[in-house]
Amino acid sequence: MTMTHFHPKQPVEQFPVQQILAYNWEYSSDRQRLMRLYENAKRDQWNATSRLDWSIDVDPHSELVPDMAMGIYGSEIWNKLTAKEIERLRHESVTWQLCQFLHGEQGALLATAQIVDTVPWYEAKQYGATQVMDEARHVEVYRRFVQEKLEHEYPVNPELKKLLDMILTDSRWDMKFLGMQIMVEGLALAAFGTMRDTTTNPLLRDLTAAVMEDEARHVAFGVLSLREFCQQASDQERAEREDFVYEAAVLMRDRLLNREVWETMGLDADACVRLTLTSPLMMEFRRRLFSKIVPNVKSLGLLSDRQRARFADLGILEFEDNTTSDIDQDAEEEQRRRQEAA
Ligand SMILES: [Fe+2]
Ligand SMILES: [Fe+2]
Repeated sequence: MTMTHFHPKQPVEQFPVQQILAYNWEYSSDRQRLMRLYENAKRDQWNATSRLDWSIDVDPHSELVPDMAMGIYGSEIWNKLTAKEIERLRHESVTWQLCQFLHGEQGALLATAQIVDTVPWYEAKQYGATQVMDEARHVEVYRRFVQEKLEHEYPVNPELKKLLDMILTDSRWDMKFLGMQIMVEGLALAAFGTMRDTTTNPLLRDLTAAVMEDEARHVAFGVLSLREFCQQASDQERAEREDFVYEAAVLMRDRLLNREVWETMGLDADACVRLTLTSPLMMEFRRRLFSKIVPNVKSLGLLSDRQRARFADLGILEFEDNTTSDIDQDAEEEQRRRQEAA
């Protein structure tokens, strides 16, 4: 398969992907938890035009998010910056971050559209359609925020692009779930949570909170669907999924180094990346991004001893004992119900 390499001057990027198309002629609705999730999704739709107050002023030179969250904060490089340069760095840094959210949301939009086609279960197709709309709305709000409030844009970060390609070019539906619903959305939930809780701007806060309401449902969709798949998977299939999860985890950890920002600022990018890798606050933040992912991976049965050792090397194994939401209990109930009905 030939793949066009991403180039920012090329507005539309196209390449063929393998897809398995699945009709479902049974229209079964015995996956009650998925049907409930669908009802919730319909009930909780929101309109970004009316829900958010777009007239709120955004000053990208102000501390929209705390300066402390920058990898070079407090370092020698930071201390040499003038007040004007710090203002510019804030602008670049928040623009970079929100553009990556925007590109990630486009990836989610494309991935969920594929899921509707490839997943064999009718309930999941029906629920997935609501997520396609959710992701379109997320692209809408980040696009509008970036274009109206931040003035310029960053192209997709290479590691994020690689991760999205990994998900979108894999023909297996469960890999799309695993990559998008568990890994990318798990990471997004943690990153959005930090944004919502630390931003000083009410529009950015409300926008992030609204998106998060949807994302929580999306992670639940992934866990519910994959748990059923993984229970029936062979050892080899499980090992392949573990490798996919590990590869995605490495990519996600490495994309959070803001190299493009340091380059735009004309700073020593290698030194800034080194600082970002070693700053205690950034290390803590990177670790925290996995706090929602690792328990979900474990609950899918994808945390073998081999995987635990690799997660320990990444410094994220400690989250294995975190508790997830009530998805666990609900899913068990559903499993029991389905077995009784069979
Ligand atoms: Fe989203
Ligand atoms: Fe999502």
